[in-house]
Amino acid sequence: MTRGVFVTIEGGEGAGKSTQVRRLAKVLEAQGKQVIITREPGGSIGAEEIRSLLLKGVVDKWDKLTEAFLFMAARRDHLVKTIWPAMDTGAIVLCDRFMDSTLAYQGYGYGEDEVFIQNLKEMYHMIAGDFHPNLTLILDISPKIGLQRSLDRKGNTEQRFEHMDLTFHQNLRKAFLAFASEAPERYAVIAADKSEESVEADILKIMKERHLC
Ligand code: TYD
Repeated sequence: MTRGVFVTIEGGEGAGKSTQVRRLAKVLEAQGKQVIITREPGGSIGAEEIRSLLLKGVVDKWDKLTEAFLFMAARRDHLVKTIWPAMDTGAIVLCDRFMDSTLAYQGYGYGEDEVFIQNLKEMYHMIAGDFHPNLTLILDISPKIGLQRSLDRKGNTEQRFEHMDLTFHQNLRKAFLAFASEAPERYAVIAADKSEESVEADILKIMKERHLC
């Protein structure tokens, strides 16, 4: 269907995803590639509007099904308005979080719920069909370190998920690592408790091994 490449970057809070997306984009651009950086929730006008509904406010603002629908609605708009058109032009699209975040946060964060996870996968199929990232980089960090980094960095807004308890964040980490071990060809796990330079070097190594740069 499309000519481009879709790479998603995932992980818990404070893993340094946004920094690494920017660094990777610079390297790819220096190689003469067309690169689009985007993020979820958000990445299109409509999805950015939904983003503020999701990330601002009290922890228990939405029940998990409502929350999942909002993430999926934002994702559908993002795919249609931003990701697919960019891929049609042959771009490399680097996306800070995507569907694996929904599976991890909404599917496993509150405690594993098999039926709900199956529902999430069906919802994804409804909005995206058989479209999946070519590669998902998981930046792995201990939740204690990551949460501290994240709370130090952000202002008082958009911290709804940072305020979930530590068990929630430990569940996420386990979930991301499980996704990667179930489908190693589509994922790569990178230790993120190191210097920015060293994490970047690991990412570039993987991109080369997967023939993506
Ligand atoms: P953001 O400020 O982008 O966080 P980070 O810098 O950690 O990526 O906020 C995104 C938040 O939304 C983050 O806490 C994870 C959460 N999230 C979900 O719960 N489900 C999802 O499907 C997505 C995309 C994000």
